[in-house]
Amino acid sequence: MKTEQPYLLTPGPITTTQSVKQAMLQDWGSWDADFRAMTARLCQRLVELIDGEGSHVCVPMQGSGTFAVEATLATLVPKEGKLLILMNGAYGQRMGKIMDYLGRDYVALDKGDYAPPRADEVEAMLAADPAITHVALVHCETSSGILNPVEEIAEVVARQGRRLIIDSMSAFGAVAISAKEVAFDALISSANKCFEGVPGFGFVLIRQSALEASKGNAHSLSMDLLDQWQYLAKTGQWRYTPPTHVVAAFLQALKEHAEEGGIAGRHARYQRNQQRLVAGMRQLGFETLLSDEWLSPIIITFFSPGHDSFDFQTFYDRMKARGFIIYPGKLTEAESFRLGCIGQLYDEQIDAVLEAVAAVLEEMGIPDGAPAHVLEAAASA
Ligand SMILES: Cc1ncc(COP(=O)(O)O)c(C=O)c1O
Repeated sequence: MKTEQPYLLTPGPITTTQSVKQAMLQDWGSWDADFRAMTARLCQRLVELIDGEGSHVCVPMQGSGTFAVEATLATLVPKEGKLLILMNGAYGQRMGKIMDYLGRDYVALDKGDYAPPRADEVEAMLAADPAITHVALVHCETSSGILNPVEEIAEVVARQGRRLIIDSMSAFGAVAISAKEVAFDALISSANKCFEGVPGFGFVLIRQSALEASKGNAHSLSMDLLDQWQYLAKTGQWRYTPPTHVVAAFLQALKEHAEEGGIAGRHARYQRNQQRLVAGMRQLGFETLLSDEWLSPIIITFFSPGHDSFDFQTFYDRMKARGFIIYPGKLTEAESFRLGCIGQLYDEQIDAVLEAVAAVLEEMGIPDGAPAHVLEAAASA
């Protein structure tokens, strides 16, 4: 469904439907039976979406996605535990920062800006360090857009008898994952990414036995997912003030997600957006950071044009004037920017984005999107 506002080509918050926005036009009592039923429906549906009935429970957490990540690490990694963080971008690095704050032990397999962690290297680290109790992986590392190989990592983590925590913030809802096939203790996500809700809470799908065994781990009352879950199980209520309007919007978003064909349907649309966007941008001379094998249907990093007249802020402002909010890059070395494929975007919007990029390049006096390394190679040939 179209909206009249600028389209967000970002990894979230994203462009939502009018009906999701309209679902917020009612006030709810957080203790009321109607709202308790809404929370129960939300949790039940999310557990179903990972085939987690009987093994996993859903614990919602107020705040942005990072709150849910911090709560999960604090609740599941014991004070005497040790975490292996598979880093290849900003969100893996952020988990390291969280562990620093928590004062708990961790090591990192740091692959730099965008190389994927592979099973053999993870297995070698686990075999060499029996103190590691948990492994954390970012499903889609949104800073580059890479879709990390979660299945092969989960397999070695299970083989080595350790516990896996997946930050699937930007992937869950559009990338299928089954708790029956992939062994994980926690999968973390939030309302405002592939489910196309509005921002205000995250949620964690946690193995019930791991959650029950976590007593005493959390360093903080408000971040204790065990306490949150126990209170929810006992009363049907969130422990502290829930974002009621966001929950109402999320239920509408879940309905629309199901109508689109659930995870498979949403994946198909995002994948189509990605392929159309990448093909069109390549025609304009742009290059993707990643080879096709690693591109996610979530967000794509493009190298910035190497032409002297290119300036990201000008490009951004001119794209915005044409109705598209784009996203800066997050690489430490190369100049880049990102275009998201998620949210209320369809062929019509993707084609309009491509037209806008072409028009803005022309306005800026830039012949095409060729990045610096392509221009340098051409000059020295
Ligand atoms: C993979 C991943 N993890 C964590 C986060 C943090 O979420 P938030 O910005 O909502 O705190 C994001 C946000 O984009 C993300 O993409």
